[in-house]
Amino acid sequence: MIELKVKREKITLFITEDGSHSLQVPAMGETYHSSHGAIQESNHVFIKNGLEYWLRQHKKTELRIFEVGFGTGLNALLTLLKAEELDVSTHYQTVELFPLEVQLTNQLNYTEQLHCNPPYFKALHTAEWGEPVAITSNFSLTKINAAFADVATENKVDLIYYDAFAPSKQPEMWVYKLIEKCYAMLNKNGVFVTYSAKGQLKRDLKQAGFSVESLPGPPGKFEMVRATKDC
Ligand SMILES: C[S@@+](CC[C@H](N)C(=O)[O-])C[C@H]1O[C@@H](n2cnc3c(N)ncnc32)[C@H](O)[C@@H]1O
Repeated sequence: MIELKVKREKITLFITEDGSHSLQVPAMGETYHSSHGAIQESNHVFIKNGLEYWLRQHKKTELRIFEVGFGTGLNALLTLLKAEELDVSTHYQTVELFPLEVQLTNQLNYTEQLHCNPPYFKALHTAEWGEPVAITSNFSLTKINAAFADVATENKVDLIYYDAFAPSKQPEMWVYKLIEKCYAMLNKNGVFVTYSAKGQLKRDLKQAGFSVESLPGPPGKFEMVRATKDC
């Protein structure tokens, strides 16, 4: 059983350097995104180096994505917008142990910053938990309210967005057992992306069977990691 150490006494909103909001958890000394830019970071790590990379490699118009840590829903929103732009059918599953209050997510400025259709972001947050919900004809969302360690996924996925709190703040989310779990969840040639580039993470990914690449990180971060399941 993995020990949970996340404390949720108070979560506050702040504006990151690209103008987009993020959240901080003072009790943990942790934020949901980089203070250099929440949208900028999510776009760089998960959309450009994850989704767009996978689509280039596979030349398919349908994929399954699994996200660890739904949080503000920013990765889901950016993925939905890209799925609409590229006309890609996307099955998005996400796990979140501590769903945010709607009063807080209503204040996030992503719709305005991204100049996107307002109902999309609201629909992501109001979607029922535990069942697939069609947000658009291209984007279905399944939100799972559980600890990642306890989630059993029936269908394998093509792409994993690993967006847990930092290894220094929530080390139990970066243990080898969970890295092995990610490997088992992926289809052949499936891809795992994360903003972290810790040496131990790279060693664990290799030990689990992944090919590991260190890529330039978003502004304010030297590196990020992408790992591929070759067989
Ligand atoms: C870095 S933040 C999420 C960022 C999120 N993708 C976003 O764009 O807002 C990490 C998230 O993981 C969630 N979390 C913490 N422990 C978890 C667990 N054991 N299983 C699933 N999610 C967890 C946190 O509540 C938080 O929402």
